[in-house]
Amino acid sequence: DSAHPHIFIILGASGDLARKKIYPTLWWLYRDQLLPPKTIFYGYARSKTSVDEIKKKTLPYMNVKSDEQEKFDEFWKMNYYISGKYDSRTDFEKLNQEISRFETSTIANRLFYLALPPSVYEEVTIHIRNTCMSLKGWTRIIVEKPFGKDFDSSQKLSDHLASLFPEQQIYRIDHYLGKEMVQNLMTLRFANRIFNPTWNRDNIASVQISFKEPFGTQGRGGYFDEYGIIRDIMQNHLLQILTLVAMEKPTSLHPDDIRNEKVKVLRSIKPLEPDHVVLGQYVGNPKGEGDEKLGYLDDETVPKNSTTPTYALGVLHINNERWDGVPFILKCGKALNERKAEVRIQYKDVAGDIFEGRTQRNELVIRVQPGEALYIKFMVKTPGMSFDMEETELDLTYGSRYNNIKLPDAYEKLIVDVFCGSQMHFVRSDELSEAWRIFTPLLHFIEKEKIQPVKYMYGSRGPKEADEMLLKNNYIYTGTYHWKSNDSS
Ligand code: BG6
Repeated sequence: DSAHPHIFIILGASGDLARKKIYPTLWWLYRDQLLPPKTIFYGYARSKTSVDEIKKKTLPYMNVKSDEQEKFDEFWKMNYYISGKYDSRTDFEKLNQEISRFETSTIANRLFYLALPPSVYEEVTIHIRNTCMSLKGWTRIIVEKPFGKDFDSSQKLSDHLASLFPEQQIYRIDHYLGKEMVQNLMTLRFANRIFNPTWNRDNIASVQISFKEPFGTQGRGGYFDEYGIIRDIMQNHLLQILTLVAMEKPTSLHPDDIRNEKVKVLRSIKPLEPDHVVLGQYVGNPKGEGDEKLGYLDDETVPKNSTTPTYALGVLHINNERWDGVPFILKCGKALNERKAEVRIQYKDVAGDIFEGRTQRNELVIRVQPGEALYIKFMVKTPGMSFDMEETELDLTYGSRYNNIKLPDAYEKLIVDVFCGSQMHFVRSDELSEAWRIFTPLLHFIEKEKIQPVKYMYGSRGPKEADEMLLKNNYIYTGTYHWKSNDSS
């Protein structure tokens, strides 16, 4: 397949996503020779811009090393741009003619990346379907969230896409599925004997999946205010991780076998209830520096009385034989004290304790970022003459165990998957619709009732109400243990 021409079309080529993520990813893939040799990149957007302009604007995100300059220029020689309207069939016909010029051989494939505002999704996909489908090979469509705003709007979009393309042509990106440690969950669980027998309600007290970011909306306030943290992070990234932690073993590694299991877990989850949620919104820290002084409501693109949450904790329950009674705690927030994403599986207390309550719970921690790591917190006898005991860890930190390994960015892996036609790490439409079913009633409730989020300070750990909710849900935090990453990279 790789010998044929491939045309990668970036719709919305002059926008934020294209500039910060798509072009840089394509460049890194090009640089590392991970794309088919005859790949052409075609930008399309409304602006009357040029490849040179795009090159300039994307430069800060490209990480070009000094010895890569020649290759970098070569990459841009494979780039083209044409401006056109999103609602004009004629303009898409022109795009089609342009692309066709490169498809001189008998087989040629096309990939469309929709880096577009959702308001134009529908018309753009209609024009692609009517004017731009490859006549000599396959056509694949890559789409990004937001996939609607709630169950109904998402369903409408799904139905629309389904009326134009079969599911096999649609690649819904959730870039967390491209992260190393998220992909590792399947191997960890199903290629080891050691974890599986305890992976259940008999042994596990709670599961916590968390995402923290140390910065606020950073100029994305306009988008963010309409969506909020639940739609931005929890409903997609965190829920996807949950399904991989909780699902049963798939029949095989076939993408549909895996996605069938993911859907099954989601179907066992009842909609998230307001009583099981803590919402927060950050305020500026008067003692902070620069941006830290600014609260969410100080962002000029955010309405002054906005109640949009920038922090959310929600507790879900999976009603099946494996997980009945085990809280799955999803936690995410912006403008917090650190950047971190991790899964924490906390085991129950040892039964029939003979150590007078000195034992602490075991925890398996899967550190997604930064500094990928896997560690198990457990008890040992204090080394030496002492008969005391203490907490320690079995630690697999990637940076020290795998010297000099460079883990690719999530987008790199996912885009390669699209070229290869593997949908394993992409969201199927029924997964998406189950995800919306779980969160829509809550979202409607908080928006209709204008539920006031709790204020928390920029740079803090988030609202203290969240800690109380954790405690209520069988997650015990003693503060006695501090993992020191032994990352040497
Ligand atoms: C995006 C969200 O999906 O994920 C952003 O829209 C967030 O708000 C980003 O910053 C986080 O991704 P990563 O890969 O930096 O953890």
